[in-house]
Amino acid sequence: MNDLNGRVAVVTGAASGIGRAIALCFAEAGAQVVVADRRRDAWHGGAPTDELAEGATFVECDLADPAAVAALVPAVAERHGRLDVLVNNAAVSAGRELLETTDDDWHQVLAVNLTAPFVLSRAAVRQMLTQEPRGEVRGRIINVTSQHGIVAAREDTAYGVSKAALSQLTRQIAAEYAGEGIVCNAVAPGKIETGPSPRAGEPGWQEYWTSRTPWPRLGRPEDVARAARFLAGDEATYITGTTLMVDGGWTAR
Ligand SMILES: NC(=O)c1ccc[n+]([C@@H]2O[C@H](COP(=O)([O-])OP(=O)(O)OC[C@H]3O[C@@H](n4cnc5c(N)ncnc54)[C@H](O)[C@@H]3O)[C@@H](O)[C@H]2O)c1
Repeated sequence: MNDLNGRVAVVTGAASGIGRAIALCFAEAGAQVVVADRRRDAWHGGAPTDELAEGATFVECDLADPAAVAALVPAVAERHGRLDVLVNNAAVSAGRELLETTDDDWHQVLAVNLTAPFVLSRAAVRQMLTQEPRGEVRGRIINVTSQHGIVAAREDTAYGVSKAALSQLTRQIAAEYAGEGIVCNAVAPGKIETGPSPRAGEPGWQEYWTSRTPWPRLGRPEDVARAARFLAGDEATYITGTTLMVDGGWTAR
């Protein structure tokens, strides 16, 4: 079921957190995963993802660096001969509302969260169009957005805007390239516990996340990884341009 055997997948930001869970889940399903991150070690500890995930390789890539972003997909295509799945997962946040957001904050957040996925997706679609389809599909793109691309992010203007725009990029790619067998979807996590984040220690945040989430626990990286795996596999057919909420009901109320 949902076997990714022989598929080549790039997951950005896969050294830690949700990206790491996606990489491990894809590898478990038989994919050859390229872990693309600016650092190899997980910020929350543990062995590097590429050591844990069978068949995975690590590529150092800072998504804030346009040259590194431009080089990623061609390097993967040269090494593996194809690219089946691109997961745009890495993101940063400024953690500030509008009046505190500097021009630098805005540009840094948009560079990593939106411009890099745009450039990587363009390169991925170019590569995928050269590939013979497997069944109906030449390739798949999965964008990791957020509940905060649907509703406003608390104290995080640039981040929320970047995620809403990434959902729209998802729809654009889906509509523009469906005819060529390119599938593009998004998964939108709600609050997912990835490790001891500094914000969890600040007054009020834990209560806020819990009170905003109808499900009686916060999310786990695996919750998002399984949704991404579904969207990466043959089970997910005739689904394109959608944003799949994995938010425990955050946006349902
Ligand atoms: N954790 C949550 O509650 C939550 C909620 C909604 C959406 N999301 C989204 O899920 C995705 C993963 O979030 P997470 O919580 O696992 O994050 P995380 O901070 O735990 O991990 C992010 C990873 O991205 C990498 N990264 C950051 N900047 C990079 C750059 N410039 N170049 C390359 N790699 C870079 C980091 O090194 C890290 O490995 C993000 O898109 C985030 O917006 C997370």
